Amino acid sequence: MALTSASACAKLILLGEHAVVYGYPAIAMPFTGLQMRAMLEPCILKPHGMQVRIPELKIDAPVESLHMDHPVRKAIDLTLQALEIDRYPSAILRVRSEIPFYSGLGTSAALAIVLIKTLSAFLGHPLEAEVVNTLAYEVEVGNHGTPSGIDNTVISYQKPLRYVKGEAPQLVMPVQTLTFLVGDTGLQKSTADTVAELGRRYQEDQKTIQVVLDRIGKAVEHGFEAIKAGDEKELGAAMNANQKELKALDLSCAELDHLIAAAISAGALGAKLSGGGRGGHMLALVPQASINNVQRALEQAGAKRVYKTQLEGCQPC
Ligand code: PMV
Repeated sequence: MALTSASACAKLILLGEHAVVYGYPAIAMPFTGLQMRAMLEPCILKPHGMQVRIPELKIDAPVESLHMDHPVRKAIDLTLQALEIDRYPSAILRVRSEIPFYSGLGTSAALAIVLIKTLSAFLGHPLEAEVVNTLAYEVEVGNHGTPSGIDNTVISYQKPLRYVKGEAPQLVMPVQTLTFLVGDTGLQKSTADTVAELGRRYQEDQKTIQVVLDRIGKAVEHGFEAIKAGDEKELGAAMNANQKELKALDLSCAELDHLIAAAISAGALGAKLSGGGRGGHMLALVPQASINNVQRALEQAGAKRVYKTQLEGCQPC
C-alpha cells in the first residue's frame, strides 16, 4: 500500500452562527485558502499499530493510547466501524494543518473529515461525501455537545450553503462574485465553551435570548435575499445587524470589535465575527475599490493575518 492522503478546507460563517444551534438558518462557505492534510503511510515494522502524529495538537502516540472519546480516536474508530474492519492498520498517520485551531474556522470538523477520508481511502474504500459528513457530525457531537452540523456539512461538500439543522442544505448562488477579507485576532477560543455558555444563559433566561436569536434569524434571511439579488449593500447591512446581536449575546470581544470597526471605517460594507466568537476570526465584505484600504486598516488594527477570499458569482445561463 502506498502513501494515501486527503485534505479538507476551512469554513467561514457569513451569517447566523450560534443561532443555527437553536434551529435558525445560517449561511457558510468553504474557505479553500487554508487547508488541512492527513497522510497515512504503511508501517510494516509495527504490526497492527497505528501511530498518530499531529504536531499542532502535540500528539505523537499510538491511537490506542488516546481516550476513546478523543476526537482523533473517535474519527478513526467510526471509520473502521463503518467499513466493518476490526483492527487498526499498521501505519503512521500524520496531519498538518494550515488552519489554526480554536479560531472559528471549523478546524474540528476539518480534522474529523481528513481523518475519515484518508483512512477510508487507505483501506481501499473511500467513503462518499454524505457518509463522511454523517461520521464527522458524530465526532463533532463528542467535541461540542450540541453542534448544529453546519461546519461538517460545508466542509464535507465544499459548497456555500444555507443551512438549517435537520433540513437538507440549500446551495447559495450569488449573482455576482463577493469578496471578503478575513482578519485573525490571534486569540484562540474554544467553541465548545462559547456554545455551552450561551446554552446555560438560554436555560436561565430563554425569553431574552430568544428575542436576540430571532433577530439573528431575520438578519440571515435578509442577507440570503441580498445574496440572491446581488445586493452587496444589503448583505453588508445584514452582516452588521448580525454582529450587533452577537455582541448583545456577549460573543464578541475587544479585539474582534476593533478589527470590525477598522474594516468598516476603511470601506467594508459589513463586518462581523465568524464562528464561535470571543476571539478567532472576523470577516468583512469589501467592494473591489476598497480592498487595499481595508487590508491595510486590518493590519494596522493588529490583525495577526489577513486573507482574501471570494464567493464566486453564478451567472444564470
Ligand atoms: O468556531 P467554529 O468554527 O467551530 O464554528 C462554530 C459555529 C457555531 O454556530 C457557534 C456552533 C455550531 O455548531 O454551529
